[in-house]
Amino acid sequence: MEHTATSGMADRGFRAAMRHLPTAVAVLTVRTGAGPVGMTAGTVGSVSMDPELLSVCLRRDSRLTGAIADSGGFVVNLLQEHQTAIAQWFASAERFGVRDEFRGIGWHPAPNGGHPVLTDVACVFECRMEAQVPNGDHLLAIGGVTACRVSPTARPLLSYLGRFHRISGPADDPPVRGAPGPGAAHAGPSFS
Ligand SMILES: Cc1cc2nc3c(=O)[nH]c(=O)nc-3n(C[C@H](O)[C@H](O)[C@H](O)COP(=O)(O)O)c2cc1C
Repeated sequence: MEHTATSGMADRGFRAAMRHLPTAVAVLTVRTGAGPVGMTAGTVGSVSMDPELLSVCLRRDSRLTGAIADSGGFVVNLLQEHQTAIAQWFASAERFGVRDEFRGIGWHPAPNGGHPVLTDVACVFECRMEAQVPNGDHLLAIGGVTACRVSPTARPLLSYLGRFHRISGPADDPPVRGAPGPGAAHAGPSFS
């Protein structure tokens, strides 16, 4: 093992080790009274199938933490591999200096709640906020998924070792037993 870490040594070991975890790249969006806000997040995870729940970790002082609590909901926009500029924009401090951080970015309001749905993303999860659980310097937001839409031919964007990556293709032959394939049936609310 290249790095070792004990409690309190996050910068020397844990942080470096976590960079080895490939993650999907999403933009969380919320409609607020002052206009739409968004942030890039690599911590979206599945929590429960019944009911449908997902999670995302936010810095405690993130604007989105307050915005989600105030609005009671949010949208997870899973980016495609050609959307690195959007991922960079919604992670940069530059956007705090502009009047409309969504200017020049295609979006429409989600049917439930009006939170921004970005154009041409791989997958959209519309969520109502179920819980915000403080954990260390972050907060785990649990979203109850009220609707989701998948673009079947989309190619998701990944984050790995501090760079954006694309998926090159399956590494298993035959497919993993028990894993849901592309045609797997699933039950749930208003999903398409
Ligand atoms: C690939 C990538 C993934 C990120 N994932 C997260 C995340 O899961 N949670 C988080 O709080 N910040 C994450 N960030 C950093 C935020 O996007 C960044 O700090 C942003 O400016 C926060 O916006 P806010 O202060 O408006 O909430 C990520 C950044 C990048 C580039």
